[in-house]
Parts: sequence; structure tokens; C-alpha cells
Amino acid sequence: MAEKSEKEPVPEEEEAKKPVKEESEKEVAERREWLMDMMKLSLGFAPTPEKLLDTLDMDGVVNYIKSGKCKKIITMAGAGISTSAGIPDFRSPNTGLYDNLQKYNLPHPQAVFDIGYFWKNPEPFFLLAKELWPGVFKPTPCHYFIKLLADKGLLHRHYTQNIDTLESRAGLEADKLVEAHGSFRTAHCLICEKEYSQDFIEEKVFAGEIPRCNEPGCEDNIVKPDIVFFGESLPKRFGELVHDDFKECDLLLIMGTSLVVQPFASLMNRTQHHCPRMYINLEKTGSGPSNPISMLMFGGGFKFDDEDNYRDVFWQGTCDDGCLLMAEKLGWKEELQEIVKTDHAKIDENAKALKARSKSLESDKEEKQEEKGEVVSKVVETKKSTLGKSESDTEKSNIPKSKTNAPKSSVTKSSSTASRATSKSPSSSKTKLKKS
Ligand code: OAD
Repeated sequence: MAEKSEKEPVPEEEEAKKPVKEESEKEVAERREWLMDMMKLSLGFAPTPEKLLDTLDMDGVVNYIKSGKCKKIITMAGAGISTSAGIPDFRSPNTGLYDNLQKYNLPHPQAVFDIGYFWKNPEPFFLLAKELWPGVFKPTPCHYFIKLLADKGLLHRHYTQNIDTLESRAGLEADKLVEAHGSFRTAHCLICEKEYSQDFIEEKVFAGEIPRCNEPGCEDNIVKPDIVFFGESLPKRFGELVHDDFKECDLLLIMGTSLVVQPFASLMNRTQHHCPRMYINLEKTGSGPSNPISMLMFGGGFKFDDEDNYRDVFWQGTCDDGCLLMAEKLGWKEELQEIVKTDHAKIDENAKALKARSKSLESDKEEKQEEKGEVVSKVVETKKSTLGKSESDTEKSNIPKSKTNAPKSSVTKSSSTASRATSKSPSSSKTKLKKS
């Protein structure tokens, strides 16, 4: 593995993301105690914590929720909760985003979210951003289930790795949400850090342009949406809430994530040892080998298949099916289905408006380009008449074709120069950014 340099972060998922907040002394002491307990438990030197689930399956979890002992549920999510909305996840073979980025000519798939690479070449990210733009997609039944947990007063917090903002679109209050990998909601200039809105970025992205700063003296520097790239810190809010939230958690519900990106993945190990954990996913991951080092750094993983498992439940299938089944068992199925239906109808209307806006932006851009083309043609015409050699004159006088082509090629050259100067290509930004 290449050495990690500060200037050019290595997109090593296990290491690249780190919480911003330093742990307080009290938190460090609690963490040490937690680790000691975990070691004792693993080695059989401590009694098994109280078993809160009658059975280690969904029924056991549902009974626990119904018992009234479970008041603070934390949900943790990844890309798998949004795949049924039409957004690909990252690592599923063939369909995952990282298997489908060939057209961007990246040195490696994660480079599209690598801050070092973005500085050099932001274009692939913005092209991809157009495809993944929030607003085009509808929340899934799973998103609405999380919202329903909040409505029932059971959701302590939802931690998501997703940048699609579908939780908010499903109506989840900002207070209940931690977007651990940021979102498109705000953006900042990479140089002067001026804040920009989602609308600003949206306009540029849909017009096929790279968003640039408009602050005097900082013009042309790139504006980056506040999503967390490999090599960047997680949002402050994550560091501020994570410790107390997980300490208080009564039930951890993890959905649609491969649990490979740190520090998010190890959140599953930050609950109290007795806290039940249910993992809904297409495949069993995150239960990985608990080698002593990763165990010390991140905790031990799930114990689904271990004899001494007393709290971990794996439900294999889609997040939507899992949530619908759980809603049914909790007696909320009709309510959930009604929310999905009503909200999707609202979103369809908004999507129509967005489409119309994007069309008008594109046609504005085309008009501007046509205007530019006309100006260039006029300049050429003037040049030709100054030279006194219009096409028809040339044809009449038997001047060889190669010579008559001269003004033509200069037209091509000047028009392409004009478009290059106005299109603000990433290569021009590259030079600017390197300088600053
Ligand atoms: P991954 O693509 O790594 O994992 C998604 C998981 O969801 C996989 O285990 C799939 O099998 C599963 N899955 C897919 N569709 C599902 C469905 N409908 N129901 C249930 N499970 C399903 O995505 P994440 O774990 O979210 O970081 O990836 C974590 C981070 O890696 C992302 O936030 C991103 C990426 O690099 C960034 O910084 C942008």
C-alpha cells in the first residue's frame, strides 16, 4: 500500500474517514472500559449480558419493541436502502457504482470521491452528480419506515452514509438525522470557503458546467458540494452526537450497507454490550473475522452464527421487504403503505417541475452558444470581405483549394478557442488550483 500523504490522500477506505471531534478524557475512559468488557466477554471471563430478545430473529426484535423496554432505536444505513429508488449502491458486483465508472477514465473507481483526485480533475464527479442528483429519486418504503419510527417516538437517531437526502425527502426531521458522509444540501468554494446553496450547484450541474466561485478575487475556483470525500473529515455533528447516542441506544437497526467504510462501520460496536442489533441486508457482511487488531480498533463484529450470540439478528433480503414485514408485525403496515403512496404522488409533481427547469436551462445554454456562433461567423465574414476573397470569388478565380481553405481553418480555430475559453474546462482550473 502506498504511503498516505497529507496533500494527496490515499483512498484507503478503512483509514480515510475520521471523526473531527477528539474524544474527551471521560469518553476515552468509557471506551477503554467498554473494550475491557468486550475482551472479557469474548474470552468468557465475564457473564453474558442480559438477553433482551426472546428469539434471535425478527419476531424477537418486534416483541422487544412491543414490550415497551425499547425506547431509543438507532438506525444505520447505507446505499442498499436506496437501490430500489433507482440509485445504485457502490460495491454490488456489476450493478454497483464502482463497477460502472469506466466512461470517466478514472485511475481507480473510488477516485471519483477522492479529494486529491477531485482537485486535479473535478469533471467526473460533476458528471456523476448529475446522474445521482437528489430530487430525481423517490424515498423507498424503508426510508418511510425510518420516518414512521420517528413518528412513533421510537427513533433516537438515524445515521446514514448516503448523500441522496432521501431521508429528508421522506420527511425525517433534521434533528433525528446524521448525514455522516455529508450531502448536496450545501457547498463551499475549495479556496475561500464561501458557502453556496444546493440550487446554485444544481443549476451548474444540469447545465453541464463545473460550479465555480463568484467571489471577487476567487473567481474560477471550484465549488464542491459538502459531501465527504475520501481524505476528508466527517461532519462535526457526527463527532458531537455519536458517543452519547450509542451509549443510550436500546436497539440498533442496520440496513443496506456493506459495513466496510470506517469510522461508520464500527459504530455497530459502540452500543452497550446488551443492546440488540439487527442487520437487514441482501448478504451477510460486517460479521467479518475478529482479528485481535481490528477487534481492538473497531470491536468484534456481529456474532450471528456463534453459539454465544445473545443479541445479533440477521434478516436476509431487501431493506424494503424487511421494513414492510417488520411494519406488518408491529401493526403499522397499512399506515406505512399509505404514507408511501401519498408522498410519492407529491414527489411526481415536483419532479415534473424540475424536468421543465432543466430543459429551459439547457435551451438557454444552446441559445447562448448559437449567439456566440453568429458573432464568430460575422467576424469571419468581415475578415473575408476585408481580404476581398469571398468563397464565390475564389471559385471563379482558379485559386488552388488548399489556399482557399486558409480562412476556413482559421474560423474553426477561433471558434474552438472561444468555446474553450468560455467552457471553463477542468484543465484550466487545474492550472489555477495548482497555483493557489
Ligand atoms: P455498499 O455498496 O458498499 O454496500 C451496499 C450493501 O447493500 C451491500 O452489502 C449490498 O448487498 C446491499 N444491498 C444492495 N441493495 C440492497 C437492498 N435493496 N436491500 C438490502 N441490501 C441491499 O454501500 P455502502 O455500505 O453504503 O462513501 O458504502 C459505504 C460508503 O462507501 C459510501 O457512503 C461511499 C462509498 O465509498 C463515500 O464517501 C461517497
